[in-house]
Amino acid sequence: MADAIRIGVIGTGVFGISHLRVFKQAQNEGRTVLVAACSSGRDPARDQERRDEFGIPIYTDWREMLDKESLDAVTIVTPDHLHQEMTIEAANRGLHVLVEKPLDVTSAGCQAIVDACKANGAFLQVDFHKRYDPYHLALERQCNDGTLGEVLYGYVHMEDKIVVPRDWFPHWAGSTSPAWFLGVHFYDLVRWCIKKEATRVYATGQKNKLAAANIDTYDAIQAKVEFEGGTSVFFDTGWVLPDTFEAIVNQSIRLVGTEGFAEVDSQNRGMEAASYKDGMRTYNEAFMREEEDKHGNVVYRGYGYESILDFVDNLEFLQEGGTIDQLQGRYPGGEDALEVTRIAEAVHQSIDSGSIVTLR
Ligand SMILES: NC(=O)c1ccc[n+]([C@@H]2O[C@H](COP(=O)([O-])OP(=O)(O)OC[C@H]3O[C@@H](n4cnc5c(N)ncnc54)[C@H](O)[C@@H]3O)[C@@H](O)[C@H]2O)c1
Repeated sequence: MADAIRIGVIGTGVFGISHLRVFKQAQNEGRTVLVAACSSGRDPARDQERRDEFGIPIYTDWREMLDKESLDAVTIVTPDHLHQEMTIEAANRGLHVLVEKPLDVTSAGCQAIVDACKANGAFLQVDFHKRYDPYHLALERQCNDGTLGEVLYGYVHMEDKIVVPRDWFPHWAGSTSPAWFLGVHFYDLVRWCIKKEATRVYATGQKNKLAAANIDTYDAIQAKVEFEGGTSVFFDTGWVLPDTFEAIVNQSIRLVGTEGFAEVDSQNRGMEAASYKDGMRTYNEAFMREEEDKHGNVVYRGYGYESILDFVDNLEFLQEGGTIDQLQGRYPGGEDALEVTRIAEAVHQSIDSGSIVTLR
């Protein structure tokens, strides 16, 4: 059996807790050791909560954590614009890295990360969890087993409730956008489904409601992306849905080909509920859910956790003598993330210029 993988987590916020849960759960199975985590230190009460819940040191200087702890891998769950420096430093120390999406907010930064990882033999994975959704796996199969034929066009929307930029991370929402925070998920999913890269992008965006709340970012971004062979997909992204909406996010994808179409409502999987306590709700139980195992322990299930656990699977494969080349195409990696960032970058260039941006 492979040695337990020693992991540190940089970023312990809204999504960092998912990483901590996965690695703690894998620790219970002897697969990982959750060694330490690190935050910015701006929320000492939350740091204490994480210490209490996970029983690990919470550093407030990520370099100090890397200096002091003996680690095999780190995961990076910090604001989008901070990933680059942390990932390169980790790779230069020979650590394997899982980075939250987007890998970086510049293609030059993504390229620098990819190069640093290659130079150091570090395994780099990016958490594009949409690829792990069982319904998206079926969509990808239909795109590639001939069921849909040649995909001609498609439509995607991904819209968060306003609570996300307004209340969850108002201090850094102005440094990201609906394209960077939401769009990248589906830019990656579409290119993974159709196995084609983006060629041209035209995008528009609106700044209104969040700007009025002193958060300088787009409320919504609409991007028309053309892929090799002429496939054209429209991506609507936004994060100003009202607080009264029945879930945190509203999302779906529809692809239409020469032989048929497939559509996945990624939010409403069929259960609707209304209660005096919660109001009207829909549930995407495929994403993240807590269950109890037969011993009464809480276990975390769903593709939102499985995509993080896949990093552990891949590191075990490497420990057992497999190579990074053998894993090629079997996980979302740095080259995928670079292509995705090129699309998001082009989206913003197109909004700024009012013109079509050509990528290849
Ligand atoms: N895969 C997904 O579905 C998903 C969902 C939400 C967020 N994300 C991504 O995860 C990342 C984090 O998002 P979040 O919502 O958890 O943000 P957050 O603001 O809730 O948490 C950010 C964390 O980073 C820490 N941090 C900030 N600066 C730091 C520094 N200099 N050194 C060490 N730690 C630092 C903060 O203390 C905090 O713990 C982002 O890249 C975001 O796009 C992914």
